[in-house]
Order: sequence, then C-alpha cells, then structure tokens
Amino acid sequence: MSKIRVHNLAVSVDGFATGEGQSLEAPFGHAGARLMGWFFGTRAFRSMNGKDGGSEGVDNAFASGWGPGIGAEIMGRNKFGPQRGPWEDEEWEGWWGDNPPFHTPVFVLTHHPRPTLTLKGGNSFHFVDASPAEVLAQAKEAAGGLDVRIGGGPSTVRQFLEADLIDHLHVVLVPIVLGRGVRLWDGLESLEDRFTVESVTTPSGVTHLTFTRR
Ligand SMILES: NC(=O)c1ccc[n+]([C@@H]2O[C@H](COP(=O)([O-])OP(=O)(O)OC[C@H]3O[C@@H](n4cnc5c(N)ncnc54)[C@H](OP(=O)(O)O)[C@@H]3O)[C@@H](O)[C@H]2O)c1
Repeated sequence: MSKIRVHNLAVSVDGFATGEGQSLEAPFGHAGARLMGWFFGTRAFRSMNGKDGGSEGVDNAFASGWGPGIGAEIMGRNKFGPQRGPWEDEEWEGWWGDNPPFHTPVFVLTHHPRPTLTLKGGNSFHFVDASPAEVLAQAKEAAGGLDVRIGGGPSTVRQFLEADLIDHLHVVLVPIVLGRGVRLWDGLESLEDRFTVESVTTPSGVTHLTFTRR
C-alpha cells in the first residue's frame, strides 16, 4: 500500500520550521539559510538541482530518502511562493525555475485556486482548496500506486499529522534558536504515542528524527 511521507523537514530547537517575514528575497523569512545549511552541501541536494559533487555521509543518506518511490507531492501555498491572499501575479511559477526538482504532479493547497501549471520534467502544479483527506485522495490517484510526499511547510505538515494521515515523518532538528516563525509541533501533544521514534545526531550537529507509524 502506498505510504504518506515527509522528508527533510528542518526544525529549530525551539520548534520553528520557518522564520517570520517570508518574502521573495527571504523564502525562510528571518531564518535565512540557517535551517537548511545541513542540506545544501549534500550530494542529494546538489543532484536535485542538476549539480555534481556534495557530501556523501549520514546527512546525505537521510537527504536522499526524499525522492525514491514518490509519485506525487502535496505542499502548502506558502511553500510554493511568498504571495498571500488572492493571486496578484499568476505568472509566479514557484521558486524552482522551469524544471523543478519534483518531476511528479504537485498539489498546492490554497483557498485561492488557479489554473493548473505545467512545467518541464513531468512537473505539474494543481491548486486545490480541500481538506487533507480530500487532497490526499487526489494525490494518491495521481501517484499511481507510488507514495505521496507531504512537502511542507509546517502548517501543512501539522494538518496532516493532526488528521493522522502520515506514515513516515523525517524531521531534522537544527541546533539554532529562531525565537519566532511558524511552529511545527503546536497542538500535536503525545504525537510520539502513534509512532516508533528513532534519532541519530550527525557530525554536522543536526539530529535526524524519524517517526514511523506503529
Ligand atoms: N523547514 C523546512 O524543511 C521547510 C520545508 C518546506 C517549506 N518550508 C518553509 O515553510 C514556509 C511555509 O510554511 P507555512 O507553514 O507558512 O505554510 P504552508 O504550509 O506552506 O502553506 C499554508 C497555506 O496553504 C494554504 N492551505 C493550507 N492548508 C489548506 C487547506 N486545507 N485548504 C486550503 N488552503 C490551505 C493556506 O493558504 P491561503 O489561504 O493563502 O490559500 C495556508 O495559509 C516557507 O517559508 C517555506 O520556505 C520549510
């Protein structure tokens, strides 16, 4: 049976998965690049962006779990871009250029649907106003039996955890204190009761936590 997976979700030690004040210049708000520093140097991240090289240690082993077996992604509208409210600029095609790294259908949750966007490399973005269960049904159908990745941001992942729809959650605890932003864990008291939780700290200083549905 296909699984619902989250990978590489970076969270500060005080629980924030993005900073405050997201904008075109600052996709992670005041957090800047601090949440994703462990990831940018990995071979997995570089190859996602068509580049050679990169680290091949434990961080890379976790990072590279992102792609295999995935047939569709679901993301929140704030991961797709910095605009809020009704779309002022439907020319916006996401952060990733004309050939994004997903190479599958991507379902973007939004209260402001817009026409489907088709880009190179098998990427299509479908803008959907729906509950987690409803959009998941659409994504599963599009995934054709493969797994569905919940790509973030934190508000979207939190909704899927609240609805108990996640089978595998990989969180990367980054030793920084952001103080403000969007929290992952709020309202998820005793989440660990539903999962087998494992962790490993790597030489880069981050701790990889995996939550696997019991
Ligand atoms: N730390 C990481 O690893 C990581 C990973 C991915 C992204 N990020 C960062 O996280 C930030 C985005 O996260 P976020 O928590 O602010 O937002 P998000 O989860 O990306 O998107 C939330 C927005 O999506 C729409 N939405 C969500 N659920 C919906 C539903 N059921 N029905 C209709 N619309 C729905 C709403 O937008 P509207 O009402 O405006 O339509 C909502 O405000 C960005 O800064 C991104 O760079 C971090």
